[in-house]
Amino acid sequence: MAAAIGGTALVADVADRDRLSSVLQRFGEVDIVVANAGVVWPLGRFADVDVDVAQWEAAVQVNLFGAVRVVGAQVSGMVARGYGRIVTISSGAADPPGMPSANAYSTSKAAVDMFTLHLARELSGTGVTANAVRPGVVDTAMQTFMRSHPVEQVGTEFYERFHGLHERGELVAPETSAAFVVGVVLGDRNGEVLDIRTSQ
Ligand SMILES: NC(=O)c1ccc[n+]([C@@H]2O[C@H](COP(=O)([O-])OP(=O)(O)OC[C@H]3O[C@@H](n4cnc5c(N)ncnc54)[C@H](OP(=O)(O)O)[C@@H]3O)[C@@H](O)[C@H]2O)c1
Repeated sequence: MAAAIGGTALVADVADRDRLSSVLQRFGEVDIVVANAGVVWPLGRFADVDVDVAQWEAAVQVNLFGAVRVVGAQVSGMVARGYGRIVTISSGAADPPGMPSANAYSTSKAAVDMFTLHLARELSGTGVTANAVRPGVVDTAMQTFMRSHPVEQVGTEFYERFHGLHERGELVAPETSAAFVVGVVLGDRNGEVLDIRTSQ
């Protein structure tokens, strides 16, 4: 995709602090950051799944600290230049009661919302905006992964909700979510948690 638009793609694991930092340095000055990387595992009840706290921590490393690191590497330069657009990708799971069977995901997305709201307030008047976008239930590999789990592991509510949305053709197209993010970047909304369900 980067080649198609004349750009460059650099690959890094956002949970790998050192590798990420060396890749981010190669970007130089950045005006727009979209912190999109996310993982939905581990799925299941906290007490039942072999959650291994290490797995929980690994998910938060990607969902929360990945966003914090990517934004953190760019924000002071944006402020110095008086322009920047920061978008984090949140989820409806961030609001109580969260997504069933996805405790680590819901917890980390709630934290992403708070991180972004703090940023937005702190950056007010600098020319740099920060917004968290909830992209809807999107037809991506993440949804395929979620549907691949047995009802015994994820519970009836989770299983019926996500299989139902898929079977009824109600998943949001990735292009729709991406276009929404572009609209946020090009617009001047600031300090909001935007939700594709209510903002379309
Ligand atoms: N799909 C939904 O219904 C939905 C709903 C609400 C919010 N979201 C959020 O939307 C964002 C995109 O999700 P998606 O639906 O596109 O999921 P996806 O199909 O699973 O894609 C996740 C993306 O994150 C990248 N990623 C995962 N771990 C990473 C890591 N450690 N370092 C760098 N990149 C990493 C993946 O890269 P690789 O392919 O290289 O692994 C992939 O590009 C996520 O933040 C997700 O939480 C999705």
